[in-house]
Amino acid sequence: MTMTQLIEVRANGLSGTDAFVSQVSVSVGETVEQFAVLAGIELGKAAVEVTAPEAARVAQVLVAVNDSVQEGDLLLVLERIASEAPTTRVPTPSTEPKPPALQAAAPNSAIQDFHASPWIRGLARERGLDLTRIVGTGPRGRILEEDLAQPRGPATALTTARPAEVRPLSLLQRAVGRTVTQTWTQVPHVTQFDETDITELEAFRVALNREQDKNAIKFTLLPFVVKAVASALSAFPEFNASLVGDDLVLKQSIHIGFAVDTADGLRVPVVQHADRLGLRQIAQEIAGLAEKARASKLVAADVQGGSFTISNLGGVGGTAFTPIINAPELSILGLSKATLKPVWNGSAFVPRLMLPLSLSYDHRVINGVAGARFVAHLASVLSELRRALL
Ligand code: COA
Repeated sequence: MTMTQLIEVRANGLSGTDAFVSQVSVSVGETVEQFAVLAGIELGKAAVEVTAPEAARVAQVLVAVNDSVQEGDLLLVLERIASEAPTTRVPTPSTEPKPPALQAAAPNSAIQDFHASPWIRGLARERGLDLTRIVGTGPRGRILEEDLAQPRGPATALTTARPAEVRPLSLLQRAVGRTVTQTWTQVPHVTQFDETDITELEAFRVALNREQDKNAIKFTLLPFVVKAVASALSAFPEFNASLVGDDLVLKQSIHIGFAVDTADGLRVPVVQHADRLGLRQIAQEIAGLAEKARASKLVAADVQGGSFTISNLGGVGGTAFTPIINAPELSILGLSKATLKPVWNGSAFVPRLMLPLSLSYDHRVINGVAGARFVAHLASVLSELRRALL
């Protein structure tokens, strides 16, 4: 003969606080899985769930919503359905072992700084939402079902549900990280923002690509900017320099680095003597160096001697950013995505392709006026293509 084994589920962990039943989630006769939410209890600003210690059938429900309860009160009686269980036990949810993902839902540990019924908690768990990040709009800040639709980013996903992945930084990322931290904390940066009209330049670029052999290196925007920066560095030698102690070392050659996004992290190969190269040679240099960077085949000579750096995020998007100087250089140009904008030409608004420029410079050497002039010069060279090609 099979003896029915009963499990009493009692209020546990209330520690003398006024508490009431906020939710009864099951009814008599229902079969529940282990850890299924049976009822909810609210106490002060917190709420706790009462969960099934094991798979069972609900034999009795002894409380109703809004009943006040005290520590030890009998809430439900379950009927054990696991046949191998030898004896009748009287567990409480808090004494049952639970997997880490569910520990937070156990009565003793579930007292959290938000106000939500077990029903809402169950919904949140199903949807992978973190209730601590949701603003409740119900009485006393209680989280309602409609609050679960609040916009949220990936950070709101339940961290307890999925263990965090630990991904060590690559050696390159660590090295770059140390360098940018040092530069950012030791060099006073100012960033000057501007934009320039590259409508004609873009038309010229497209025409050049159309005319040339299909196998030839494609002209992207970057070679034009390298050419224009070389022109600006010739006109403003203090930007083609380094600070060594208290001495400004003005360089005789113009070597322009450009940031390349690789699987290992950021690399900055350098186009040597950019001022002496034609546009096609610059395009070839950029394509070759970028390919080497992505294949981790750069050699020391490819990355040394830079006097200025360009970081082009235009392929990704954004309107402006504050690039960190590639020390010991004194300035860096950030490019964001060129977009069509309505520009007033004196009598009408006309669509023009505008390229955002963000120039960060070392304020120990370069003052605001010089920074603004440099960018203005660069902008005018880029918008008046003929000057860039001189
Ligand atoms: N605005 C609009 N379009 C742009 C642009 C910009 N600022 N920059 C490039 N483009 C266009 C190009 O002209 C090209 O157009 P097309 O397909 O019509 O010919 C297209 O976007 C793709 O260009 P891309 O392949 O990115 O070449 P590029 O020469 O401009 O850039 C690299 C080459 C190596 C710099 C680039 O691939 C890269 O790695 N960028 C990331 C740099 C980075 O990580 N910076 C962060 C440093 S913290």
